[in-house]
This record gives sequence, C-alpha cells and structure tokens, in this order.
Amino acid sequence: MKIGIIFYSHTNNTAFVARKLQEKLDQAGHQTRLEQITIKGKTPAQPGRFELDHVPAVGGYDAVIFGSPVQAFSLNPVMKEYLEQLPPMTGSIVACFVTKQLPVKWSGGTQATSMMKSICESKGTVVRGVEIIFWSKGKREQSITRGVENLSSLF
Ligand SMILES: Cc1cc2nc3c(=O)[nH]c(=O)nc-3n(C[C@H](O)[C@H](O)[C@H](O)COP(=O)(O)O)c2cc1C
Repeated sequence: MKIGIIFYSHTNNTAFVARKLQEKLDQAGHQTRLEQITIKGKTPAQPGRFELDHVPAVGGYDAVIFGSPVQAFSLNPVMKEYLEQLPPMTGSIVACFVTKQLPVKWSGGTQATSMMKSICESKGTVVRGVEIIFWSKGKREQSITRGVENLSSLF
C-alpha cells in the first residue's frame, strides 16, 4: 500500500516514532512517505496563537497514519487544527497515534486519540486503530515497539 505518515512533533518524540513506523512498514513491503506538519508561532503551540505552515496533503495514499503529541490532557492544538481543516476523505483508511509523557490513565491519551478518531470519522474516513505511546523512562522502549507493531499490523 501507499501509506502517508503525517505527524506534528514539538520535541521530536512523535517524529522518532513516525520514523520507526516508516521503517517497519517499508520492511513489510509498503511504500511510505513521512510528512511533518509545521507552524508559524511560538511553541508549545496554544490554541489560536499559531498558523499552520506546512500542511501536508492527504490525497494519493491508500492509507494515512496521523501522529501527534498529547498536550494539556488532550490533543495537541496543531494536530486538532490540521485535522479539522482537511477536506472530506470519504472511505479513506486511517490510523492514529499519540505520544505522551505520563504513564497513567486519565492524563490525555484516550482524550487525544478519541478526538483524532472523531475528527477523522467526521471527514468520512474509516479509522482502523489508534495507539498511545508512553515516553516515560522504563516504559518507552516497550511502548514504542508495541505501538509500532500494532499500527503496522493494521495494514
Ligand atoms: C505544553 C506541554 C503539555 C503536555 N501535556 C501532557 C499531558 O497532558 N499528558 C502527558 O502525558 N504528556 C504531556 N506532555 C508531554 C508530551 O506529550 C510528550 O513529551 C510527547 O511525547 C511530546 O511529543 P513531541 O516530542 O513529538 O512534541 C506535554 C508536553 C508539553 C510541552
């Protein structure tokens, strides 16, 4: 499949996972392309205080994977704005992941992935799966490996 991996990353954790995912999907015989969303404005981005700069297109892929950090117990506002401005993607196959620091429930992972899923579905996509990847020491390696495996097994 032709798979686009479209992500936003402030401190490069999500970018790291996106590259690992690309390696895994390429090894499985897919054709992948990494695209990073960029902004104009101060970081960490605050709602209403940035402009999207590089806005990757979602056309031309068989499937798209969106990746984002968690911010303030929710979806990073850059990914939220990016997803909201996308055109209808009726029937497109999608998966989503987030990276986050805190290894506990109720600290934004489910909230962020639910929001990504809901916005994607409002565009007409079929969301095959979502993953939450924990960055805390001790959990990081295992969480990245498991998240990348789970995501790649969707395609
Ligand atoms: C302003 C800010 C708010 C954050 N809020 C949360 C949070 O609510 N829950 C959490 O688990 N991690 C939180 N984090 C940690 C990031 O989600 C985590 O470091 C993530 O992997 C960063 O991804 P990136 O390097 O791709 O930007 C926050 C980080 C920043 C800078």
